[in-house]
Amino acid sequence: MSNAKVVVITGVSSGIGRATAMKFAKQGCRVFGTIRNIKKAQAILGVALVEMDIRDEASVQHGVQTIMEQAKHIDVLVNSAGVTLIGATEETSIAEAKTLFDTNLFGCCGSMKSGTEIR
Ligand SMILES: NC(=O)c1ccc[n+]([C@@H]2O[C@H](COP(=O)([O-])OP(=O)(O)OC[C@H]3O[C@@H](n4cnc5c(N)ncnc54)[C@H](OP(=O)(O)O)[C@@H]3O)[C@@H](O)[C@H]2O)c1
Repeated sequence: MSNAKVVVITGVSSGIGRATAMKFAKQGCRVFGTIRNIKKAQAILGVALVEMDIRDEASVQHGVQTIMEQAKHIDVLVNSAGVTLIGATEETSIAEAKTLFDTNLFGCCGSMKSGTEIR
C-alpha cells in the first residue's frame, strides 16, 4: 500500500486549483482534482478527476464518496473552486452576491463537512 498523502483539490479546470494539483502530483502525492463538467475536462498528469459542483450538496457527497471508495481517507483538502466578483456594492445585485457566498463560502463548508463526515 502506498504511503503517499491523499490530496483533494476542488476546481482544477483552471487557475490556482489546476496549478496546485500539478504541483502536488509532481511531489508524489495521490491527487484527486474535482471538476464541474468531466466531459469538458482536460487531463492533468498524475491527477484523478472527479466530477463535483460545490454548490450542489448531493454532487459534493457523491464526489467525496467516490474518492473515499478509492483512497479510504483524505489527508489534505484544498478548497480552490470559487468565483470572482469585482465591483462596487451598489452596482452588485443581491443575486450576484448570493452566488458568490453560495460558492466561495457555503461551497467550501460543504466540501469540508463531507470530507470529514464520510469515513
Ligand atoms: N487568482 C488570484 O490571484 C486570486 C486571488 C485571491 C482570491 N482568488 C479566489 O480564488 C478562487 C480561485 O481563483 P482562480 O484564479 O483559480 O479562478 P479560476 O481560474 O476562475 O478557477 C476557478 C475554478 O473554480 C471552479 N468553480 C467555480 N464554481 C464552481 C462550482 N460551483 N463548483 C465547482 N467548481 C467551481 C471553476 O470551474 P469551471 O471551469 O467549471 O467554472 C474553476 O476550476 C476564486 O474564488 C478567486 O476569487 C483568486
